Parts: sequence; C-alpha cells; structure tokens
Amino acid sequence: MNNLNWWQKTIVYQIYPKSFCDSKGKGTGDLNGITSKLDYLKKNSVGAIWLTPIYPSPMVDNGYDISNYTAIDENYGTMADFENLISEAEKRGIKIVMDLVFNHSSNKHAWFQESKQNKTNAKADWYIWRDAKPDGSAPTNWRSIFGGSAWTWCEERHQFYLHTFAVEQPDLNWENPKVRQALFDAANFWIDKGVGGFRIDAITYIKKPKIFVDGEVDGKDDLSSIHNITANTEGILDFLHEFKDKVFAGHDIFTVGEANGVSANELPDWVGERGVFDMLFEFSHVNLPLKNGEIWCRPTDWKLSELKQAINNSQNSTKSTGWYPAFFENHDKPRCVNYFFSKNADKIKAAKAIATILLTMRGTPFVFQGQELGMTNIDWNDIDCYNDISSHSQFDFALQEGFNSVAAIDFVKFFSRDNARTPMQWTSEKNAGFSTANKTWLPVNENYLELNADAENKNPDSVLNWYRQLSELRLKTPELLQGDFELLLPADEKIFAFSRKSDKNIFVTAVNFSAEIAELPTSFADKKILLDTEKNPAEKILQPFEARIYKFQVTK
Ligand code: NOJ
Repeated sequence: MNNLNWWQKTIVYQIYPKSFCDSKGKGTGDLNGITSKLDYLKKNSVGAIWLTPIYPSPMVDNGYDISNYTAIDENYGTMADFENLISEAEKRGIKIVMDLVFNHSSNKHAWFQESKQNKTNAKADWYIWRDAKPDGSAPTNWRSIFGGSAWTWCEERHQFYLHTFAVEQPDLNWENPKVRQALFDAANFWIDKGVGGFRIDAITYIKKPKIFVDGEVDGKDDLSSIHNITANTEGILDFLHEFKDKVFAGHDIFTVGEANGVSANELPDWVGERGVFDMLFEFSHVNLPLKNGEIWCRPTDWKLSELKQAINNSQNSTKSTGWYPAFFENHDKPRCVNYFFSKNADKIKAAKAIATILLTMRGTPFVFQGQELGMTNIDWNDIDCYNDISSHSQFDFALQEGFNSVAAIDFVKFFSRDNARTPMQWTSEKNAGFSTANKTWLPVNENYLELNADAENKNPDSVLNWYRQLSELRLKTPELLQGDFELLLPADEKIFAFSRKSDKNIFVTAVNFSAEIAELPTSFADKKILLDTEKNPAEKILQPFEARIYKFQVTK
C-alpha cells in the first residue's frame, strides 16, 4: 500500500452545497452547515469532500455559472467560513476539493460585462465572438448542450457569442494567453488556501476548431450537437499541459477531469505520468440507460452484461495508466436505485448492491451525498416544479419530437438532475432536518420520515451502516485498495461478480442485480463468506439484490 497516494486510499464524498445543510434557516445549504456535519462524514470514513461550485453565481446553473472565481457566494457564507471549513476538515483528516469551471463563466462575470461592450475593449477577445452570417443568422448551426442555438446575439456589440451550455454561460477564449493566466491564477488562489484537489468541469470543450463550420443536422430543431464538433479538439492537450505546469505540478493534490469525448485509447495522453490529470470521469456505464447518451435522452433497454463490460473496460484501461474514479451517482444523474433497477425493486437492497460494487472496485470511490442513505428520485408531474435548466430543455425537446406532455414529463422524471439535488435527509423533523426555513429551495423528498440519516444511524441493517462497514473494510484491506481487478461471469445477466487479489488473498464480490433468485456457479460453493446483505446466506444462490463478499486464500 506504500506506493499509493493519499487520494488513492481514500473515499471522496461529493457535496452539493445548496442541498446539504442550512445553518441559517434560509432554505439553502451553506458552508457552516457542511462544517457542522464533518463528524458524520468522518464516521463514514470520508477522506476528501468535493464541493460543487461555491463561488458567487447568479445560479442559472446552480453555481456552474461563476461571476467571480476567487470569492464565496454570499448565500454559502464568507471566506472566513471557508477557511474554517478547511481547518476543521483538516483536524479530522479530510481534504476539501474544489470544482473548477473554466470552459465558461457567467454572463454576469465582470470579464464578460466588459467584453460585450464593443470590439475594442481590453477584454474584447476574452470570449468567443463572431459576426452573423450575411442573412443575419447565427454563425453556425451548433446546438448548445442545454438546447437551442449555441450562439446568442449581443445587441451592444453587434455580434454573436458562443456558449456550449446555457445562454448565461459564455465560453471563455482559451486561445488568449491572458485568459489562461487569469484562470490559472484563480486555481492557484485556492491551492494557497490549502485545498486538496480539483474536479475540472467540462474540460474537453475548452479548445474550439480553427474554422467554424455548420455540422450535420441531427434534430428537428435543424441544429447540430456542439459536442460532436468541439469536444476534444486537436491542440487541447497543449492548453492542458500548460494548466498542469502552472497549477497542479508539485502540489500534493489530486485532479479529476470531467472528460466527455475522450476515448479509452487516448487515456495515456490525459492521465498518469504522461498525461495531465490524475483521474478522468468516464460516463459509459452511467449513460447506458439513456438512448444516444445525450442530455435529453429517453430511457432505453440495457443489459447487465453491458454495464459490466463498460466498467470492466474502464478498470482495464486505468490498470496501468492513471487511476479510476469509481462512481454511480453525481449531481447530474438520477439516483442509482431508480436508474439501474426496475420500478418495483427493493430500494434498500438495491442501494446496498451498488454500494458493494462501488466500494470493492479498483479506484477511488466517489459517493454522492445521500447515496449512502439510499436516497431516491422525486416524482413531480408538473414541469414548473423543476429547477434544473436541462429538465426544461428536455421537456421542450420531447414535445418538439412529437411526444405529448405526459410522455415528456416521464422523460424528465427519469432523467432530471433535480432527482439528485433534493435536500439531504438528516432527520424526520421539519424539512428532514436540512433547514428550519418555511420553504426549501427544492422540496424535500416525501420519503424523509423513514429515509433519513438519523434513523439509519440507529438501524444496524441500514444502507448507511452497510456503507460504513464496507468503507472500513476497504480502507484496511490492501487487496481492495490495489489488488488486480478481474471480471467474473461476464455474460451472466443476473450476477455482477469480480475478484480483487494479492499474492495471498482473493476477495470476490458477487451481487445479484435481478429481482429473481440467481444461481451461483459451483466454484463459489465452498468459499468463505466475509460479508453479506442477507442474514442467512445460502451457499448456492443469491437472493434478489443480495450482495456478498467472499474472502479466501490463494492456493499455491
Ligand atoms: C458539468 C456539470 O457537472 C453540470 O452540472 C453543469 O451543468 C455543466 N458541466 C456545465 O458547467
């Protein structure tokens, strides 16, 4: 275990600050709320907290539209609160990891406010401006990721600006060395504050093609997905190496890039010694239940063998290059108990099943807030209830494609990012103990009376206590930290099984993903069961959603 870095032998917990804990009764979470929960996180063996953006923001995309890169949004608290969080976390052996959103800023950022005024100001080329086509239309037919044209007309400047995401998120012009330096300075500001690392947002979009041309139309809106045109454009690695040299190099921090559009064979250029980051989030496994893997997709059928293959590919490609950030949930995905399991699945068992895979795989596990409780999706039938900007575009897109509003809301329900963003369920008190306000920014999931941290803490059979048990086992077990990963039973459509081994011991994880009894191969029969979600595990079978870990010695 000696050759592992601290971040390879820890568990990262992702906090969506707006929904975690409100210390002031305003209805939105804040930094002091997070500080007040550090002991809870310590008890869950968390070693690092990834905070989604806490910088000043108009909150069009809940903080992913930043108006000042080196300050704290007043709704979250003050810089002193942040410094206090860092030092209280440090006392408990926990590092704070920041989210860097450098592909775009908010349109309310002072840089953009200046840039948009005319073509001659000092920040005139800090964003991506183009003239209209001769007929006055947008420079290209690119569709932004949240829907609609990726270009918005600016009356003051008489030009269009580019935004890969929302209108309010103009793309920064990385070709300008002053822009790059300003962004690197901002990241270094947080390193000086003592952060333990960075998650780097939407990083594959920072480099744009040399010439802007229309793409092939791929929707009824006559537009062409910007992702297919600008993701991972040649030359991006030059920018990223400069980023590494001027910011990350020489610091004991970790970096994890959000890297849509990077293929497995390109990994050595992106991670590890030759690459730029320590880890890359890769989405093939979480995109399986979605048709096309695009943001407004509808559900599609998928097979367990495909999920296993996707994870196996990532495990293999990060075996010698870089390191795997293991995850099933984040603030952009529905809750995994709804997403990966049928409607009628026992949600407690399903949550434990996912936990068992997550915490015994190779790589650093990332747990999203509430996942450790088995929190579930919401069930809102009115589009006006949704805050998530992408849910609204998904709804419009479905209508445009000819679906009626009932079908459209079903797609929204399945995919909405609000599923993951409802307030954390702490207790059975008002607003699940998240806030004392009369109204919380998103409603609390109705199931909080039974599903909350307080109740689960007291219940030895809860999802929370299963997470704790597995986390402790993982952190003290060399095989689970760095043993080789081997996928077992790849074609089985019920059982997800794999081994982790050293020269001495083999650990085998076996999880029944189905609602039916699954028969185990005879080779499993005489093996010693170390942990099981069932009280009386049977040798030859797994009950529906049962999760089991075997431990046995290597026979020479
Ligand atoms: C990815 C983030 O995870 C998501 O929440 C955000 O909307 C987009 N990037 C744009 O920053």
